[in-house]
Amino acid sequence: MCGIVGYLGEKNIKEVLLNGLKELEYRGYDSAGIAVLNNDRFSIFKAVGKLENLIEKTKEFQTQGFGIGIGHTRWATHGKPTEINAHPHTGEESYVVHNGIIENYAILKNMLTKAGVKFLSQTDTEVIVHLFEYYKKNTQNSFEAFEKTVQNLEGAYAILLVTKDAPDRIFFAKKGSPLLVGKSKEQEFYFASSDTAVIGEAKEVHYFDDGDYGYVSKEEIRIFDASGKEKQPHWQPLSTNKLSAQKGGFRFFMEKEIYEQATVVADTLLGRLLEDHIAFEELDETLFDQINEIKLCACGTSYHAALASSYLFERVAKVRTSVEIASEFRYKEPLLCKDTLFVVISQSGETADTLETLKMAKAAGLKTLAICNVDNSSMVRLADASILTRAGIEKGVASTKAFATQMSVLWMLSLFVAQKQNSITKEVLQEHLQTLRTLPKILEVNPSMHERIRRLSKRYLHGHGFFFIGRDIFFPLALEGALKLKEISYLHAEGYPSGEMKHGPIALADPELFTIALLPKNLLFEKSRSNIEELSARDATICVISSEVYEKADDHISIAPQPHYMQEFFEMMVALQLLSLEISVRLGNDVDMPRNLAKSVTVE
Ligand code: M6R
Repeated sequence: MCGIVGYLGEKNIKEVLLNGLKELEYRGYDSAGIAVLNNDRFSIFKAVGKLENLIEKTKEFQTQGFGIGIGHTRWATHGKPTEINAHPHTGEESYVVHNGIIENYAILKNMLTKAGVKFLSQTDTEVIVHLFEYYKKNTQNSFEAFEKTVQNLEGAYAILLVTKDAPDRIFFAKKGSPLLVGKSKEQEFYFASSDTAVIGEAKEVHYFDDGDYGYVSKEEIRIFDASGKEKQPHWQPLSTNKLSAQKGGFRFFMEKEIYEQATVVADTLLGRLLEDHIAFEELDETLFDQINEIKLCACGTSYHAALASSYLFERVAKVRTSVEIASEFRYKEPLLCKDTLFVVISQSGETADTLETLKMAKAAGLKTLAICNVDNSSMVRLADASILTRAGIEKGVASTKAFATQMSVLWMLSLFVAQKQNSITKEVLQEHLQTLRTLPKILEVNPSMHERIRRLSKRYLHGHGFFFIGRDIFFPLALEGALKLKEISYLHAEGYPSGEMKHGPIALADPELFTIALLPKNLLFEKSRSNIEELSARDATICVISSEVYEKADDHISIAPQPHYMQEFFEMMVALQLLSLEISVRLGNDVDMPRNLAKSVTVE
């Protein structure tokens, strides 16, 4: 995910910017750059890949005395990760860095191109700096030009802009993407998209609200709200603890990552979920030609995403789909046919078992696709094609936002295949697109649900085991719920298809057997309810997750009523993640680094 920094003052500008970017590295990026205006001269440096490459390029560069500078780590959305697409973007004598997405960039680009402006990059960001210079030509007043620019931008943004005409100012604007300004003494200001970047430098910070814009100079800071009314900054002391700042005020990275799901999934959908269809610009048109089967292969949580999406590939896209656990697949001497698209799913892109199956599929001449969170990982490099899930760096060993983004990509991919194969009606496609659009909202954690789960968790710290049960696509979700609980609570938990309990496991039913039952309103409701009833008749302790009240349950985690089962899927996913988190917290375990587990399993 992108990061922004800025500095106005007399310190070593390069160092301040690079140190700030270093602190934002954890968010993930694929290129970086800085622009510094010192003694009337602009110096620009950009590099693809790690920050070390940019540091190397700026080795000889030094500043003297007062100056201004802006910096950025870019995580590609519009256009590939190249130096040209890296920020800062330039006009004739101004530079801009930007997080977010300018939704009307195509219209603006068209207008500016007609006015004779030449564009260098494929990004949406570049329109900002050209639009600013376009207005500046008519007004001769940089602030007025900036104000007009901001008024004409649609979408989400955090922007810093510097221009030669105003060598003692940094212009800023914020809407939908985080941005703050910090200070520690007179005549000095820091900017950043997250406070981790300015801890140790700034003593106080002001967090901008959506719609705010303005500028800082040596003498002052001026902030205007969306209506153009001037407002005063609200300075607050800044924490000095980098680790807790990285956790964004949450107790654990896992908790932060659960709460982040709404925003990262919005990133996952960006540029892919369009008005009336799904687009994956990273996929070659021919990838699905002559394909009659999809084989999904993965481990752990990624395997659960594979299994869940297989229901969508068959139901929605009408393509034969099989799912494989990578460590099993490696040695089963599988029969591989060339009309199969082999899809690996992995957060890290380095999991040894999954990587080996990708090599096997390639050796057998199959077309391959990697669905992965880490660009340039081994799987992304090896597969014929890849789709990045855009979850940002996931620190908690127990995967949460990686799963949410994998599911979003796989759901979109099932629709993409359906479009290609003409196996979906316009109406059904529209219904799915409309439901996908609601995901960021659905994934916002409801504080009262979290509190309810926190209170409930104290009843589930003992017993002789957990069964997580669900039907259809809710069965893999039950598997995922059980895996989460196992990983961080060390309690025994199993995921089971609800309808399968009577074929054996029901023998375990007694009050000390805890059943977490997924009961969606919009999919096989009556059938699932009967299965739960069978358990309740045998006195198992039952916690139902549903929008419906089920009177025979002992406990109830209520989700909001929704019209589509996929909305229920994602809402229940959040409830399950919070339940394991709170049980683990009560047991006093290390939530982020559970015993015996590693984030990336690069051994067989
Ligand atoms: O990086 P991957 O997605 O390939 O990792 C696969 C599993 O190791 C991983 O999902 C693991 O199960 C997680 N700890 C689950 O929370």
